[in-house]
Amino acid sequence: MDKRIVVSRAVPEPALDVLRQAGKVHVCPQDRPLTVPELHEAVRGAHAIVTMLHDRVDADLVAAAGPQLEVVANVAVGYDNIDVPAVTERGVIVTNTPGVLVDATADLALGLLLMVTRRLGEGERLLRARRPWTFHLDFMLGTGLQNKILGIVGLGDIGQVVARRARAFGMNIAYTGRRRAAAEVEAELDARFLSQDELLRTADVVSLHCPLTEQTRHLIDEAALATMKPTAVLVNTSRGPVVDEQALAKALREGRIGGAALDVFEHEPEVEPALLDLDNVVVAPHLGSATTETRTAMAELAARNVAEILAGHEPPNPVHR
Ligand code: GLV
Ligand code: GLV
Repeated sequence: MDKRIVVSRAVPEPALDVLRQAGKVHVCPQDRPLTVPELHEAVRGAHAIVTMLHDRVDADLVAAAGPQLEVVANVAVGYDNIDVPAVTERGVIVTNTPGVLVDATADLALGLLLMVTRRLGEGERLLRARRPWTFHLDFMLGTGLQNKILGIVGLGDIGQVVARRARAFGMNIAYTGRRRAAAEVEAELDARFLSQDELLRTADVVSLHCPLTEQTRHLIDEAALATMKPTAVLVNTSRGPVVDEQALAKALREGRIGGAALDVFEHEPEVEPALLDLDNVVVAPHLGSATTETRTAMAELAARNVAEILAGHEPPNPVHR
């Protein structure tokens, strides 16, 4: 009997091809995030579930699927939507999609950094509002990146590529995180390891590249924002809840930091309305990995993980060994 593979939301065709070789594929037709009851209903009898970052995966979902469930393959590198201990304890393997989205996400972080420091969103809004303007030596001045300090929170795969790109812009690299990077990485990037407090105090740009965990939830809170320079900008392409969005809106409104560029939000897809009223804020709708190439590669990788597990092999990307 073919194994049942449930895909919570449409994935690119090349991934479906891989999945169809591995079992009987059911793609949920709603094309929106499913409610918890809908998701539980959809996964009944599944041997494999392909999930998106908005799907809550926990003991209840595993119970709803049934004891035959073997794998949950998240089409994302982050897996804060999954209660990994609860799921793996029930004999289900969890996989993610590391590696394939590193460049795309790093590119977006640099794009956001340029947008916020060069006021590109503001400039666009001015023109689209058909407002008059003329070239003027002190018109809409931003700040340059050369010789400024980029403070990276989490020098993992994405953080390192962001650092490398930023070096090409002439920035100096500092980082903080749970552990120190390898000596070769530090040497290549000329990256200084700092305590979180020191990093926040000295960085001109703080860019977040850590996973969302209980340790990083609200890592950027009122106190952290108060530590940052009044000119510093915050870039977030990691997960929304790493930042206390209310505290951020307040700090920005009061001019206690220079600006923010956000691809992710604390209560996605909602955005704290106060942020949208501020000109020194750039917002994007979670586009970090949103290139055709990358999204296809992510879905294919998730599909390969499913196929390996259903065939009884070691998957390439288990999140827990
Ligand atoms: C996207 O946000 C991901 O974690 O892959
Ligand atoms: C700017 O546009 C310049 O020509 O300097």
